Amino acid sequence: MRRKIIIDTDPGQDDGVAILLALGSPAEIEVLGLVAVAGNVPLARTESNARKLLEVAGRTDIPVFAGCPRPMLRPLVTAEHIHGETGLDGPSFDDPTMPLQQQHGVDFIIDTLRAAADAEITLCCLGPMTDLALALVKAPDITRGIREIVLMGGAHFEGGNITPSAEFNVYVDPEAADIVLRCGCSITMLPLDVTHTVLSTEERLGRLAAIGNRCGIAAAEMLRFSERFDLARYGWSAAPLHDPNVIAYLIDPSLYTGRTINVTVELASELSRGMTIVDYWSVTDRAANVQYMRTANVDGFYDLLVERLAVLP
Ligand code: BDR
Ligand code: CA
Repeated sequence: MRRKIIIDTDPGQDDGVAILLALGSPAEIEVLGLVAVAGNVPLARTESNARKLLEVAGRTDIPVFAGCPRPMLRPLVTAEHIHGETGLDGPSFDDPTMPLQQQHGVDFIIDTLRAAADAEITLCCLGPMTDLALALVKAPDITRGIREIVLMGGAHFEGGNITPSAEFNVYVDPEAADIVLRCGCSITMLPLDVTHTVLSTEERLGRLAAIGNRCGIAAAEMLRFSERFDLARYGWSAAPLHDPNVIAYLIDPSLYTGRTINVTVELASELSRGMTIVDYWSVTDRAANVQYMRTANVDGFYDLLVERLAVLP
């Protein structure tokens, strides 16, 4: 069944490619709105970037909302060292002219879920999970309308990418991640264990650029910028691609394999705050709450990405 989705996002070049992938897949996905959250860069940048991306894709009919400007309890940590000052460094995007909606993003999430049929809406979380967590705190009844929460975040086998043990999205707002993971909805996680295998090789970036449309070229230019830090840090031949896996999973879940297990978040320790405690081998009796993905069909993923970006302007 075609999925109605809300994308909560902190663009971010990889968020940008994820949004384009969703927009290029209208047979499978209907994007009801984008909610921007503070993460990779501050909120004023992420909401503006969300609007820039919709304008590049010619989809100014999709509303953009500003969500939360900071995590629930902690000061904001950003990642300009990866994404550049704007968060979307690489291509030269025009300043957006489409409006930002007046309604707060958290209230958009609540109103949309309350108006939905049972289990109708999929929430795609591509950044810190502050907005969805606040919506769940403010309006616990909204779980009724949630079909699935699909999030990029966490890690187990790969360790962390912002601290030795924590992945960025969970680290920035661990209390929000904890609330989401305990909400009782169906949850699928695409952690670093998957995304670190989804490498944007030069050949794959060349295929995106060779589509020749402005969205394909923008995607290649964005990823060519954000790969610099990863190439230097990891010493790999190509950089990992994170957030688009959330959307690819919605389009073709058979691209991924994993296990349904218990995942919790470390909140107390300064040293390992934001670490996801992934009971991959079910060594506890804690109830399974997450479909935790571990492998991706990487060639299949890039074939899909190229195919779908090709239908955009
Ligand atoms: C996540 O952190 C951000 O920098 C990316 O956009 C992605 O959502 C990867 O850890
Ligand atoms: Ca992101």
